[in-house]
Formats: sequence, C-alpha cells, structure tokens
Amino acid sequence: TVRYAITDLGITQFLDIGTGLPTARNTHQVAQEVNPAARIVYVDKDPLVLAHARALMKSTPEGRTAFIHADLREPESILRDPELTR
Ligand SMILES: C[S@@+](CC[C@H](N)C(=O)[O-])C[C@H]1O[C@@H](n2cnc3c(N)ncnc32)[C@H](O)[C@@H]1O
Repeated sequence: TVRYAITDLGITQFLDIGTGLPTARNTHQVAQEVNPAARIVYVDKDPLVLAHARALMKSTPEGRTAFIHADLREPESILRDPELTR
C-alpha cells in the first residue's frame, strides 16, 4: 500500500498511526526506497513502542522520520504536535 501510494499516487508525506514495534519493512523504509526525500510521522499511544521506534527507525538524510506519542481517539493531540510540521 505504501509503495502504491508513493509510486503511483506521488504521495511523499505519511502519517502512520498505530506504528507498532519496528519490523523489517517499516513505512519509512518502503517509502524512502522509492523517494529518499519522503517524510514519515509515526504515532502510537504506547510509550514503549515509541522508544523502540525512535531508537531504530532512522530516516534517510534527505527525508525525515518523526515520532509522536498520542492517542488516535484524541486527534487534536496529533494535529497540534509540533513534530507534525517541523
Ligand atoms: C498490531 S500493532 C500495528 C503494527 C503495524 N502498524 C502493522 O500494521 O503491522 C497496533 C499498534 O497500534 C497502537 N494503537 C492501538 N490503539 C491506538 C490508539 N488509539 N492510538 C494510537 N495508537 C494505537 C498500539 O499501541 C500498537 O502499537
């Protein structure tokens, strides 16, 4: 889905809510393989998930990954977070 979005639709910014623990093919890896400048913001309500994600999910130099500790049921907390637009 990410590959389709970036290749066929030209989407370059992704908001990945409910990130989960880092795996082999995370959103930013798939996206930045196609476009190294792609920007991905990961959101999860579990602080442990975010701690692992921050440690392991490193962006390409051209792109960016950011991490927001927030709950989807409070969408304003995601939309107001400075990480979203920094
Ligand atoms: C099964 S993992 C998903 C992993 C990955 N996104 C995937 O598709 O393989 C679900 C994640 O969603 C997070 N989550 C569940 N409810 C959430 C909510 N209301 N707001 C933010 N994150 C939530 C959980 O903490 C968990 O890390």
